[in-house]
Parts: sequence; structure tokens; C-alpha cells
Amino acid sequence: MVGGMTAHIGPAGDPRSSAVVGLQWGDEGKGKVVDLLAAEHDAVARFNGGANAGHSVVVGGTRFSLHLIPSGILHPGKPAIVGNGVVVDPERLLEEIDGLAARGVDASGLVVSDRAHVVTPYHKLEDQVREELLSKGSTEQIGTTRRGIGPAYADKAQRSSAIRVGDLLDVALLRERVERSWTFKAEAIADLGARAGVTVEVPPPSAVAARLAELGERLRPRITDTTYLLHGLIAQGKRVLFEGANATLLDVDHGTYPFVTASSCAASGIGPGTGVPERCLRQVVGVMKAYSTRVGRGPMPTELHDERGNRIRERGREYGTTTGRPRRVGWLDLVAVRYSAMVNGATSLALTMLDVLAGMGPIRACVAYRTGGGGGAATDRFVPDGVRLGRVEPVYEELPGFEAEIAGARTIADLPEPAAAFVRRIEEFVGVRVGLVSVGPGREQTIRV
Ligand code: IMP
Repeated sequence: MVGGMTAHIGPAGDPRSSAVVGLQWGDEGKGKVVDLLAAEHDAVARFNGGANAGHSVVVGGTRFSLHLIPSGILHPGKPAIVGNGVVVDPERLLEEIDGLAARGVDASGLVVSDRAHVVTPYHKLEDQVREELLSKGSTEQIGTTRRGIGPAYADKAQRSSAIRVGDLLDVALLRERVERSWTFKAEAIADLGARAGVTVEVPPPSAVAARLAELGERLRPRITDTTYLLHGLIAQGKRVLFEGANATLLDVDHGTYPFVTASSCAASGIGPGTGVPERCLRQVVGVMKAYSTRVGRGPMPTELHDERGNRIRERGREYGTTTGRPRRVGWLDLVAVRYSAMVNGATSLALTMLDVLAGMGPIRACVAYRTGGGGGAATDRFVPDGVRLGRVEPVYEELPGFEAEIAGARTIADLPEPAAAFVRRIEEFVGVRVGLVSVGPGREQTIRV
């Protein structure tokens, strides 16, 4: 600092940073991959989403579930940055900070962008009543997590009814902004609630502002300009790990719209969500499961409705980290993964949950879609549209399965040949090398290739 001014930070230097992004519909095991890679980085940062994300990490046999805080927080002392592209529910953020403290995890490195947007009680109510209304006979209920994500991003774009984290620290400004938000939203929420047949209590702006100010005070030491912070780190040659929340097929632009979340989940979200240009990235690790899962509504061409699906769900513990909902389960969709790898510019793949497929008999992978009904033309292009993707039929390739449990494998050579062949087939189809294979939730249950 020179005379109260930050020393000039120029354009970013050598690409040293990394991104970890999900290549499917979320829950690919990004938390574990981030946790492993965080050890090789100096800071971790989130650039999108909010408390809709759920990252589970198992350390020393204890399972941690994080929603808003970057998973890299489990590496004490490293800056864990919540960038401006995240929508922050301060109530949940403080709950997570307290939860980590209760387990003795040092969260002193956690900072939040003053320009991140605040998820208010109005956004959560709006999310709930909109979903209730959509559930009344409509086919387009999104099946959101009801955490207020969509309404908060909508207000960010709307501007007039938005509140940013920095506003929490200026009580007079905060009151004014909450009052304005209430003016725009209260009647609409009550009206939507009445039409959906649910009673909603819209809290008065005075109470909401008072609570937000209280939460803001607790967060005060952590609120900062994270863009300068990140560029300062990068200028010193530090490596930042950018954690994508949700996943590419849920990206508002590149996913299966409208059955998507409201943010930019692909690596292209890093620029707007942090102010750091993508050319700072040395690698983009695309995380994918050995099969597919999806929570909430929307098409999933390879979905299984039989015993094999139930088996994968139980073995993979496929129940939502955020909502506890059973996840929909299906075969690996290589058409979708190759598309996501392309959109992200993935430089390597991290294949997770391979152990879950042991004892399944032959394994299937979707390598093309048939459009226009049975006997229609086949395409190997993904269909990033929530309605049209619902009309395709998967074309499968069948691969030999493997019977033996592989949770103890630590090198590719430890894998049964059919499992190793499955890994090779994924690399070949997607055109990106597999750099990591995960065979269980523990840090040690990892094969580095
Ligand atoms: P929202 O993000 O709460 O608006 O939900 C939109 C859709 O994204 C729903 O289908 C959610 O289930 C899904 N979704 C959002 N975040 C995640 C995630 O981290 N993992 C899996 N699904 C998610």
C-alpha cells in the first residue's frame, strides 16, 4: 500500500492457475478433485452459483458438506475466495463458517467479494412460489433447490431490486435497497403464492434490513475487493484454483435450458465471475462420473428406471447433498461429456465413481443420439435444449464389465482390464486424456495417471 492506494497491479503474467469444472449435471465429485488439487495451489476461488451447490469431501473419515464456501477451505490458511459472480445467502454462509469452526477447521482465509449479490429472504420465497406455481399442471417445473438462486441472478440483471454484499456494511444504503426490493417484490410474491395455493409471509423490509445488517457486521472482516486480491496473488506468481459450482449441462447458456441453473458454470464463467481473464489458466480439469446423474427436472437421455439404476444409486450414495433428493441415474453419456469438454476447453479429465460400476455386468456408454423417433438419423452432437434433448434416443456401445471391487486400486495397473479399457475408451471418444481416476471418497482412493 502506498499512501492509502493499492500498488498498481498490471495485466496477468504466466498462466499458472487451474479450473475444476463439472462436465455433466453436477455432483460429479468436484469437491474431492478440488480438495486434491488445492494442495498444489496457493488459493481457491468460487466464481458462480450459490448455496444450491453441494460439495462433499471426506477427510480422515469425516464427511464435510459445503455449499457456499469453496471446498479448498479444508486446506487451512490458504485464501478461499468467494468471487463477485457468486450469489451469497449471508445466513447460510455464516452457518457454514460456524459449522467449520465447530469442527475445528480454520476458516480464517475465507473472503467474500463486495460485489457478489445477496440472496435475500424475498429471493427464497420467490423461488418457492414460482416452483409451486409451475408444479400446478405445468411440464416446465425446473425442480430448483429453492435456495433463491434464479431470483437473485434475475435481480442482478434487473439492477433496481438488487443488493450487493458491500451494501450490507452501509446501514442507511442497505435499508433503502431492501425497501426498494420489497416494493418491487412483496406484492408479486404474495400474488404468486395465492395463485399457487400456498400462504406466504413476506417479511417487512425493516426486519429484513436489520437482520442483513447484523449478518453483514459479522462478515465485515471478510468482505473485500476480490478482483484486486486475485490479481495481486497472480502478480506474485501464485496459483489460484477456480472451483466451478453446479456443472456445464446446468450452465444458463450452454446447458439444457430451461432446466438449468441461473449462472455460468463452465470455465467461461471465470472471467465475469472473478475479473480474472481465462488466459491465466494453465489447465482446465473436467470432472465426470463413470455414469450420469441428474437432480431436478429436465431431459437425461440415458436415464435408467430399472434395478441397474437403483443399484448405481445405492452404491454411489446418489442422494442430493443440498436437498437430500434421490438423484436420477443413468449410463454414461459420452456425447454430452464430449460437448462439455469442448465448451470448457478441458485439458484433462478426472473420472470419478468408477468403483460404483463393479459387479454391474456389461457397461453401456451413449455414443450418439437418434433424432426424429425410431429409425431416425443418428448424430454425435449434443442437443443443448431442454425440449429437443427430451426427444432423442441414445445409441449405446456395450463394454465388458468388471466384477471385482476396485476401491483399493492405486494405479491403472491395479484395475481389472475391462475397467482400464473403459477409461481408455472415454479418452478416445472425448479426445482428452484422463489425468485422475477416483475409486472411492477418501483422498487416498485416487489414481493419478
Ligand atoms: P437452482 O440452481 O436451485 O435454480 O436449480 C436449477 C437446477 O439445477 C435444478 O435442477 C437443480 O437440481 C440443479 N442444480 C443446481 N445446483 C446443482 C448442483 O450443484 N448439483 C446438481 N444439481 C444442481
